[in-house]
Order: sequence, then structure tokens, then C-alpha cells
Amino acid sequence: MSWSSETPLPGTPHYTLPNDWDFAAERLALLGAAYDPGSIALAQRLGVSAGWRCLEAGAGGGSFARWLCGTALPGGRVLAVDADTRHLTDLPALGGEVAQLDLVTDEIPAHAFDFVHTRFVLLHIADRDIVLRRLARALAPGGILLLEEGDGLGVPAEMPGPFGEVWRAFAHSTELAGANQSWARTLPTHLNSLGLTDIQAEAEIPLFRGASPTARVWNLTWTQSRNALIPLGIPPTLITAAQADLEDDQQWFHAPPTIRVWARKADLTDL
Ligand SMILES: C[S@@+](CC[C@H](N)C(=O)[O-])C[C@H]1O[C@@H](n2cnc3c(N)ncnc32)[C@H](O)[C@@H]1O
Repeated sequence: MSWSSETPLPGTPHYTLPNDWDFAAERLALLGAAYDPGSIALAQRLGVSAGWRCLEAGAGGGSFARWLCGTALPGGRVLAVDADTRHLTDLPALGGEVAQLDLVTDEIPAHAFDFVHTRFVLLHIADRDIVLRRLARALAPGGILLLEEGDGLGVPAEMPGPFGEVWRAFAHSTELAGANQSWARTLPTHLNSLGLTDIQAEAEIPLFRGASPTARVWNLTWTQSRNALIPLGIPPTLITAAQADLEDDQQWFHAPPTIRVWARKADLTDL
């Protein structure tokens, strides 16, 4: 798996939006601005609070891990892991721990966390089922796994105009690199077969206007993905048109659903 902007060998699974891109910090901060309110509200509903031991897997720009530090510490633990931790350097000063590791192959503490969270991570990893099992294993008895992952689920075909055309090509380009845009909908079944209990799930379709944080995330995503889209037959003028639409605050868009699935580990059953 490659996490840098260097061109991967054809057919090699790789992360298509690497953190070493010039505007990655901005893109990840916008992702946090767009999605943290929903993630935080759900984490609060699930009881995340002072003293909880938390694992943020694929922490990216670290905004949610920062919230965890402010919520679970002191008394708890916040471990933020990512294959590329360059945007997480401030976390130790907040009491958090940072580890650069590959979720597929590197060691993750077992039975150690009350709360394990991912957002827009597993869908990108070709070996996502291996990671899922390892994240479930990281839960202490009674711990909660919360997964927030993107999934096309019916929406992409309905997305009109240049934004829709570019989104569909983008989704295809990520799948060529090992992502799966229709996997998150199967998470409840996977968590059930891993022996987790109290499984709950929801899907939310973000509706957003041009020039909003969500619009700017997609705008930067099209810039970062440009070299992968053009070989798929997407004309540069179409990407430019989609980006101009995304800057227009009179236009509204819908993005693919965010699927949120959460469940509890009842006991120390080894996974
Ligand atoms: C789309 S970003 C999401 C960041 C953050 N979770 C958020 O929602 O703001 C995906 C993150 O997963 C990380 N990632 C992808 N594959 C990984 C792997 N195999 N092991 C660890 N991190 C990985 C990337 O480096 C990136 O930071």
C-alpha cells in the first residue's frame, strides 16, 4: 500500500488522497469542519466522556482526535494512528498519543479501548476486512466501535451536472486503487459475524451549498484527483466546470451518504 503522492505501479492498491499533498492539511481541516459536528454529536450520545480510552484510526488531520483529547483526558487515553501522521504533531501537547502505522499489518493494542472510531478510512483500504477484525479486537469488554464510512448507496446515479459526472469518475478511480464505494452498507452484517452486539446503523445524505466547507472539500478533492480522472475520459474542462459550480453559493449539491454503524463488544471473546 502506498500513502504518498509518488505514482504507484499500475494495479497496486494505494490510498488516492495522500496526506503529503500540498493542500492536504487544508482539505483535512475542511473535512473536519464539515463532518465533526455529526461525529461529535453521535460520540456524545454514545457516552464518550472523561476517562474513556479512545483509538482514532486513520486520524488524518486530527480534528476528531483533538476533540477526543478535550473530552476523554485527563484520566482516559487518546491514541491517534495513521499511515502518515504529519498533520498530528500537536496532539502530544494535548495529552494524546500518536503512532504512525499501517492498520492492515502493524500491531494495534488488543482489548485496550472503550471507544474505537474511524471516519472515511476503511472504504479506502483494500484489506478492509482484516482491519475491521483488528479494530474489533482492539475493544475492551464493553467497548464501542463507531465506524463512519462513505458509500454510494443509490445516490451517485442521481447526482446531476458536472459534479455528478466527476463524482462518478472519482469513485471509479478510487475503486481501481482498491477502495470500495459500496461496502459500508454491509457493515452491520460484518459486525454481527464478528460477535459484536447492540448493532445500530444509519445513513445520512449530506445536502450542501456551494462555497461551504463540504463544497470546498470536494473542490480540493477534484484538484488532488485530477491526474487520475483524465485517463478515465473526464475532460479537464468538465473538472473545471464542476469546481466553478462548487464555488457558487447559489447552488446546492448532495454528496454520497455517510453510513454510521456502531456496536458493542460484550466480552473478551478473541477475534
Ligand atoms: C479521508 S482521510 C480521513 C481522515 C479523518 N478520519 C477524517 O475523517 O477527518 C483517510 C485517512 O486514512 C489514512 N489511511 C489510509 N489507509 C491507511 C492504513 N492502511 N493505515 C493507516 N491509515 C490509513 C490516510 O492516511 C488518511 O489520513
